[in-house]
Amino acid sequence: MASILQCMACARQYPIDVILYTCPHCGGLLDVQHDLDALRGGVDRALFDARLGTLDAPYSSGVWRYKELVGPDVDPALIVSRNEGNTNLYPAPRLAAWAGVTSLYLKHEGENPTGSFKDRGMTTGVTQARALGMSRVACASTGNTSASLAAYAALAGMEGVVFFENKQIALGKLAQAIAYGGTCVQISADFDRNLELVREISEKLGIYVLNSVNPFRLEGQKSIMFETIQQLGWRVPDWIVCPGGNLGNSSAFGKGLHELHALGLIDRLPRLAIVQAEGANPLYRAYRANFAEYEPVHAETIATAIKIGNPVNYPKAVRALRWTDGVVEQVTDQEIMDAKALIDAHGIGCEPASACSLAGARKLAAAGVIRPGETVVGILTGHILKDPDATIRYHSNTLDAIDAQHANALHQAEPSIEALTRILSPAPEPVEV
Ligand code: F0G
Repeated sequence: MASILQCMACARQYPIDVILYTCPHCGGLLDVQHDLDALRGGVDRALFDARLGTLDAPYSSGVWRYKELVGPDVDPALIVSRNEGNTNLYPAPRLAAWAGVTSLYLKHEGENPTGSFKDRGMTTGVTQARALGMSRVACASTGNTSASLAAYAALAGMEGVVFFENKQIALGKLAQAIAYGGTCVQISADFDRNLELVREISEKLGIYVLNSVNPFRLEGQKSIMFETIQQLGWRVPDWIVCPGGNLGNSSAFGKGLHELHALGLIDRLPRLAIVQAEGANPLYRAYRANFAEYEPVHAETIATAIKIGNPVNYPKAVRALRWTDGVVEQVTDQEIMDAKALIDAHGIGCEPASACSLAGARKLAAAGVIRPGETVVGILTGHILKDPDATIRYHSNTLDAIDAQHANALHQAEPSIEALTRILSPAPEPVEV
């Protein structure tokens, strides 16, 4: 076999065909480690470029296009895929000007089949579940993982079990998990407690856990970096900016970039900027203390996707920051919702947590960390329709403690031409785009 599981703390190795999430010896997080020496020379940019636009599975997927780097041993017949990935990378010059950066692209992971980046990790995770012969998969979730897990479990003919908090789950996500046929359990506990519960019950009942503590999830999510850099013609941006919750995505980015570099597909690494909500900021606090200490927090934020106080992938995120000379920033709920309103009004749209990327880029540029002339890629992690409630309440300026700076008030009109003329006059000047 070309791949093994390796503990990032003690480097002990285990075969990939056993059910393990953490190191049985020391409790450290596990990596799926591919044999890079064997891959070197066998993969190059031309291989992946030749697969662009193909209709043939599995390479038509924006995850499995990079199969050699994601799951070289995986039997293609086992792959559970909805052609995830293949998401757009939008140049956004007007938002760049607002954020004070020279060049900005937005990578829209909300364009995945269930509306978030989680599908990239779920195709690899559910495929591994199938390879292991599992019939049930489970996760604790702030919403998007549960939607994705329920969909991919359904495709694979497995039971998908999802645990979420009994409040503050975005409506679109809850609706998806129920509609895709997941076994949905609302629990009066926050995400961090639900993650403990799902790990315990899964061990007891023989269920496969597909939270991002599962290293096979991260293998799929790495492909966000591969695809972004390929879309830029293999030019490496100066910065990747993404939101941080359970820190699976940022950990996956670090690993993927490290591997691209080790294989000679890129000649330098972009810097990673992880942006947390101020009310859910344990990584930011640890970063400010030079990682000398780490304390879980009680999480509160309007960006419910990242309302996480004790991120399971903390050690991997710190490693990703070290590999990439990365930084951590925090933004307020006000900054998140105002940035979201601008992304939405640009015709692109995203859910609240995703807007950390733009709000964070702006803060980092103002602080001089992102410098003039640098190219920034912001990751939009979820679709605009995931959390319609937050959007409507922002635009009607009824969100607690938020003063909507970019509200687009809904008009009400009598059914008369006079009333409509009043609303629609005068015509605005065209905006230069
Ligand atoms: N953005 C969105 C839209 C998310 O749903 C999440 C995580 C993140 C960002 C943060 O990513 O956890 O890898 O740091 N949502 C998880 C869930 C926790 O259950 O759906 P992360």
